[in-house]
Amino acid sequence: MNAPRIAPSILAADFGNLRAEIESVEAAGCQLLHLDVMDGRFVPNITFGPGTIAAIRKTSRMPFDIHLMILEPESLLEDFFKAEGGVPGSMISVHQEVCPHLHRTIEKIHRLSDTLGAGVVLNPGTPVSTLESVIQDVDMVMLMTVDPGFGGQAMIESCLGKIEQVRELAAKKNTEVLIELDGGVKLSNLEKVAAADILVMGSAVFQNGDVKGAGERFAKAQAMFEKLHRSN
Ligand code: DX5
Ligand code: ZN
Repeated sequence: MNAPRIAPSILAADFGNLRAEIESVEAAGCQLLHLDVMDGRFVPNITFGPGTIAAIRKTSRMPFDIHLMILEPESLLEDFFKAEGGVPGSMISVHQEVCPHLHRTIEKIHRLSDTLGAGVVLNPGTPVSTLESVIQDVDMVMLMTVDPGFGGQAMIESCLGKIEQVRELAAKKNTEVLIELDGGVKLSNLEKVAAADILVMGSAVFQNGDVKGAGERFAKAQAMFEKLHRSN
């Protein structure tokens, strides 16, 4: 298992000053950058695509955690992988709700590179049991703790029971997966979510274009998460 990590989401960053925002968290020790791709169809919001990710890659060598909130993600996987640039530890995750051929889509991600992780994401309303026949093929399960589309929403705490359910299912299938939580994670609820391996933090890290503060907030959350993980 990898060390527990906070993955800051640039969704809440100042896009006019994106390079500085990303440099701030990277300088503070960040090792995974969460990139929220939204298409205005699967979710009611539009963000960015492979072009922007390729531009970000020119400024950072961090592994990318690419969260695809788009319909038919299978048709764009190669574009996203090329944009990401093949940095080991990067991951591409697709939503269970939009992949009728989930095995094939996961296999397609794995075929892109040996070092690229494949994740599956569950919306708050999607049960863990839907992973029963695919969990052994994924590297990560991302549990949404808000309905996806926007940053800054309050966490739906009833989703947290899914952490244990995923661990149980993985154990039953003799496999290991990373568990990532996405949505509404902040310092004040970190204790409740510490059983996960990766925590996405958008608005709790990037605030009002405060570049220096972004690194500081990241470092504080990362230190707290590691401490909680050790005591878990
Ligand atoms: C929501 C996105 C999240 C978002 C989290 O659809 O998937 O990654 O950036 O933002 P916060 O941490 O503000 O809830
Ligand atoms: Zn996300």
